[in-house]
Formats: sequence, structure tokens, C-alpha cells
Amino acid sequence: MKITKAVIPAAGLGTRMLPISKAVPKEMLPIVDRPAISYLVDEAIASGIHDILIITAAGKESIEDYFDYSPRYEAALTAKGRTGDAIMLRQVADRANIHFIRQREATGLGHAVLTAKAFVGDDDFAVLYGDDIIFSEKPVTAQLLEVYERFGLGVAGVKEVPWEQVFRYCSLKADPVDTGIYRVSDMIEKPASREQAFSNLSILGRVILPASIFEILEHTAPGAGGEIQLTDAMRSLARTVGMSAVDFEGTRYDMGSKLGFLIANVRQGVKSPEVGEAFRAFLKEFSGEL
Ligand code: UTP
Repeated sequence: MKITKAVIPAAGLGTRMLPISKAVPKEMLPIVDRPAISYLVDEAIASGIHDILIITAAGKESIEDYFDYSPRYEAALTAKGRTGDAIMLRQVADRANIHFIRQREATGLGHAVLTAKAFVGDDDFAVLYGDDIIFSEKPVTAQLLEVYERFGLGVAGVKEVPWEQVFRYCSLKADPVDTGIYRVSDMIEKPASREQAFSNLSILGRVILPASIFEILEHTAPGAGGEIQLTDAMRSLARTVGMSAVDFEGTRYDMGSKLGFLIANVRQGVKSPEVGEAFRAFLKEFSGEL
């Protein structure tokens, strides 16, 4: 089955980013001059996926505005003779079929994904977590799709995380089947102790799921933190039909954390064609003051 649909959950409260997240969704925080979520849409498109559902929530209207036309700016730019810039603005909206739905209560990532049921139908689909930005040579979603095409199972994008951080993520029971590729037979969300953890392999920001996940989600009770956890539903999948996992190539930035947000801006800022050179010069001088 060719995967043509992606779901980007972006409805969480973002409490780690308070107070800014009260008024600006964390998914709309910039990396240089573009909101984080636009990098996810780019990644989906670069992976051959053009039907994208963004799950938003009350107070997150700016996400829809960003992916809409902006006649005010287009007119102003055109009047100034900046037609190239006006066209560039239009392309933000035109590059893909971007749909929106609201999660009415932030009751967990699993619940957010469940709101995508009608959009997804019977197809297998990709999920890109709204605050996990990954820069890589080959788009991470495309890396997962390769593994999906090879084994025909759901796929989790994974990384080894430091053992002392496993309790913040999930932990996978995974057996290697090839270089960087695993068969997953079990998992646990936010293990409370080292004994509860299977390994330090955690899912970071990308999964490919079969449509059967919806039926599982419908029967998934709230788990860690009182939220309906996607990991709990994927555990049922892993225990029954199994899942694959791929240790992806790429650098991940957690835009849901203050440090992640700052690091993403510094790392991408130095690469910016517009300001990178001046920013590098500033950083060299500034580092002497640290
Ligand atoms: P996180 O667990 O990082 O989001 O979810 P959060 O709950 O907003 O964060 P904190 O802990 O309060 O700071 C990963 C992704 O899933 C989305 C988030 O928007 C984020 O992009 N999410 C999470 C939802 O869409 N709905 C939810 O109920 C929870």
C-alpha cells in the first residue's frame, strides 16, 4: 500500500513552554523565520505525502492562518514589485492538501490521533509529532516509509536515549533484524523504573501506523499522566501483529522544550543563507563572553 496521508498532532497544551504557549502554539514557534510545523509539512511533502491533516485546538488558529492565503501581504508585496515574494507566500498554502480538525480536549496524543479516523479511513498513514523537528539528509518520514515497504508493518522512528532520560519517553522491546532496523514486540510509555524499561530505544517523533490502530485507540484507557497514550495503543499492535522500528539518521529538536527551541534556532541560524554569516560572526565573538 502506498502511503499518501500524514497526520500532524499539534493540539497539546505545551505546558513546558509556558508562558509563551498561552498565546502562541509551540508548533508555531519559529526556527529562524518559519514556524516549526512548516518543517513537518515540508518533510511530509519531500517524502511523497500530499494529504496532510493537522490536529489543532482552541487558541491555535494561527496554524490555520499560516497555511492559508494572505491577500493583505500578497497585495502589499506585489505593489512594491516583490512578486517573487508574493508567489512564495502563496506556495506555503498551495504545496499540499492541508486539512484541519480540532481535538476538543487535550487528553493525550492517542486521543489526538483518534480524531484523524475519518480522514485516514482504511489507509495506513504517517504521524509526525507536531513539536519534533528532525533535520536529515533523507527526510525521516521517507526513511520510515522504506522500512514500511520492506516489512509491511507499522514502523516507529527510534533513537537510543540516555538511560537516565528513558523515563521521559517510551521504551521498546526490539530485536535487530538488519543494521538500524528492529522488530518490536512490546513497549512501555514513561517506564517508572529501570526494571520496567525494555531498552533505551525510544520512539522520537515519527511513526507509520495501520488504520487498525483506531479500533485499538477506541478501547485504550488513559495511561501515563492520565492521558490516552499512543504508545499504549502501539503496544497492542506490537504484541499482536508486531511493528518495525528504524534508528533514523537525523538531528532532532524538541520544540516543546525551551532548550530544544534555543538549540534549533542556533543550529539552523548559522546555516541561514540570509543571516548565517553575520550570525556565525556574532556567535564567535559572543562565545568569548561565556
Ligand atoms: P507532548 O506530550 O510533547 O505535548 O506531545 P504537550 O502535552 O503539549 O506537552 P507538555 O508536556 O504539556 O509541554 C507531542 C505532540 O502531540 C501533540 C502536541 O501538540 C505535540 O505536538 N498532542 C499532545 C496533541 O495533539 N494532543 C494532546 O492531547 C497531547
